[in-house]
Amino acid sequence: MAEKSQTILVVDPDTDFLDWVRKQLETPQIRVVTATASDEAYRAFCQNTPDLLITETHMQPFSGLELLVKARQRDPDAMVILTSAFGTTQTVIESMKLGAFDFIRKEGLPFNLKHVVNAALTEQEQMRSAVTFKPQLTVEQHQDSIVGQSAAMQQVFKMVGRVSHSDAPVMITGESGSGKELVARAIHHYSQRSHKDFIAINCAAIPEQLLESELFGHEKGAFTGAVAQRAGRFEQSNGGTLFLDEIGDMPLALQSKILRVLQEGEYSRVGGNETLRTDVRIVAATNKNLEQEVSRKAFREDLFYRLNVVRIQLPPLRQRVEDVRLLAEYFLEKVATKKHLPRLRLSEEAVRLMETYPWPGNVRELENTIQRATVLATSGVILPKDLPLGNEAFQRDTEEDAETGSPANLTKESAIEFLLQTAQANPDIQLLPWLEREFTLHAMKITRGNQVRAAKLLGITRATLRKRIEIFGITKELSIS
Ligand SMILES: Nc1ncnc2c1ncn2[C@@H]1O[C@H](COP(=O)(O)OP(=O)(O)O)[C@@H](O)[C@H]1O
Ligand SMILES: [Mg+2]
Repeated sequence: MAEKSQTILVVDPDTDFLDWVRKQLETPQIRVVTATASDEAYRAFCQNTPDLLITETHMQPFSGLELLVKARQRDPDAMVILTSAFGTTQTVIESMKLGAFDFIRKEGLPFNLKHVVNAALTEQEQMRSAVTFKPQLTVEQHQDSIVGQSAAMQQVFKMVGRVSHSDAPVMITGESGSGKELVARAIHHYSQRSHKDFIAINCAAIPEQLLESELFGHEKGAFTGAVAQRAGRFEQSNGGTLFLDEIGDMPLALQSKILRVLQEGEYSRVGGNETLRTDVRIVAATNKNLEQEVSRKAFREDLFYRLNVVRIQLPPLRQRVEDVRLLAEYFLEKVATKKHLPRLRLSEEAVRLMETYPWPGNVRELENTIQRATVLATSGVILPKDLPLGNEAFQRDTEEDAETGSPANLTKESAIEFLLQTAQANPDIQLLPWLEREFTLHAMKITRGNQVRAAKLLGITRATLRKRIEIFGITKELSIS
């Protein structure tokens, strides 16, 4: 393909591996240079200015990621491919963020090495144009919080790394419980906005009348109950990231206001004429099929295209069975650490059972199952009998599907047990205040914002209800994960 000769620098401590790569890639047009240490590799990089650098992440005396940074500091157009036996979430995200062309796990190399190298070389030839990025030398050592070795999740991590430095809106789709909010948080965490707020708002959980003032704020006296001026989420998340969860449930009237913010960065408070500006990065999520919503005119087409600049699709857990064991182990560890309990082990039968179960509630259900199993297990090993799979109360999505399940076969005791379990599993939840807010939100939701009926349902006066609404609106985080 290429007329002129090209040079590839391959870096790995294993000389057998280097020989194998050389065999795969060397042609009369392509020269392969190798190094077994990162300092040696950097010298070779400076001498040869290779068209492509392929490096293992675990290198001495400094890591492959640092080599990537050094190489790109010297030549901002340097094409770098990272490899590793393991693609930990953090490494994959960091390498893409630092400007790697791709990250390939070693086990995948026999299948896609040539393909990726060709793509990299072609791209290198075509666009030697400026790719701006800020090199960042220190790679934070914080715990992985998104788990996944499946090809699909590795793709997701790469996308997170690629989009984190830009301000482009991101649309995350996937079934309930598949990790959309977690991914949204990761995008914020790895972005330049990470020192500012990440604010989440669930568009499906708030009645239409409240949602507008929740998002845009309101002026004093804008409506009954608006006793003072209040900042909305767009104002609060200025400089940061606003996560619009369940955007598919946003009323059409509000959609056009969101579009205005996206297009002009402008909005007004409810009951106000003043035009306000905000600099917010929008990450939206939905478990609906938005294309379908667009075609049946329930979702604005222009807003859809505006939001859908970058799309991250989370596959349901049943389509990434190879992650089930990993996730289960991760949650076991998490529960044990949080609750200072001994770390239980999983029997092979329990793993097999979990790997065949379809997980309608996805990762959330798996997490609940593991938490429950930790409580139920009678020995140090979790057996199939300890797994409450298909147990209706646990299968149901606690935040999002409150209306779909019939409460008829849910006894008061099991409902209370479930709530206590939820609280036990989330130390951040202060159960009673949390319940008060949840009940208030839900009462408003099922009465469609009718304060008289909601107050009656809650057994409080309308004045008290108004106070609650105001108080709960002021708190920082609306969503409780
Ligand atoms: N890949 C993952 N690794 C670790 N935890 C996960 C993963 N995906 C989801 N979770 C956990 O499962 C629960 C549900 O995830 P969430 O992001 O709220 O899902 P969604 O927003 O799609 O409904 C959360 O507690 C989250 O931390
Ligand atoms: Mg969610």
